[in-house]
Amino acid sequence: MKVIRAKDSCEAGAFAAELIAAQVKQKPDCVLGLATGSTPLDTYAQLIAAYRAGELDFSCVRTVNLDEYVGLGPDHDQSYAWFMRHNLFEFINIDPHNTHIPDGITADPDAECQRYDALIASLGGVDLQLLGIGPNAHIGFNEPGDAFIPETHVVKLTDSTIAANARFFASVDQVPRQAITMGIRAILQARKVVLIATGTGKAKAVCDAFWGPVTPLVPASILQLHPDFTLVADEDALSLTPSSN
Ligand code: GLP
Repeated sequence: MKVIRAKDSCEAGAFAAELIAAQVKQKPDCVLGLATGSTPLDTYAQLIAAYRAGELDFSCVRTVNLDEYVGLGPDHDQSYAWFMRHNLFEFINIDPHNTHIPDGITADPDAECQRYDALIASLGGVDLQLLGIGPNAHIGFNEPGDAFIPETHVVKLTDSTIAANARFFASVDQVPRQAITMGIRAILQARKVVLIATGTGKAKAVCDAFWGPVTPLVPASILQLHPDFTLVADEDALSLTPSSN
């Protein structure tokens, strides 16, 4: 595991964007695994700026997003499909046909999960997977549990995740109770993994995940086993780690 220490979330976003930009320049038709949530917003803003400056070309890039809420279609303003369009895709020269997100309003979620894993395989897997981390150390929507789930699957969101994500909805009652998430296998098989963590609200999750034992009770801890994993974190997110004390 490599740790890149940033002074704040803006700098963390810039560091993560540099890693993604390097990947796109090295392999113009790379497969990027993308994340939602507030954490990657700085990263996406930096990528948009680099595109506008003529430094990056996304015309051949393919993307697979980690997850989507069950029940929210792409026109719902809290769907992850909406998020990606309005925070990245609309502002760069990516071909919308090359962007992939699980279908939250499918009639058959289990078949959608199988389709998504087959799609990732057909793209040749993920070259660089970007991740955030939930306060309970979830990645994508892989929630704490008895076992790591390898495949893309439908997940019942934990109360803590519903509470954490309620800030994006009018009320906690409107937060979907289920999501489709990429499983641990596709994440671990990504050739590079970059996880961004910022703010004191992530400090315990970061400490448990990367300075504690590997356990499905702390989903992000599995990344300790990845051969090319980079944690990009700000001082606040690293404040509980042994090296900070
Ligand atoms: C959601 C997403 C995760 C994300 C997490 C953290 O649960 N499914 O992929 O990492 O939120 O969100 P934030 O970055 O807003 O703290």
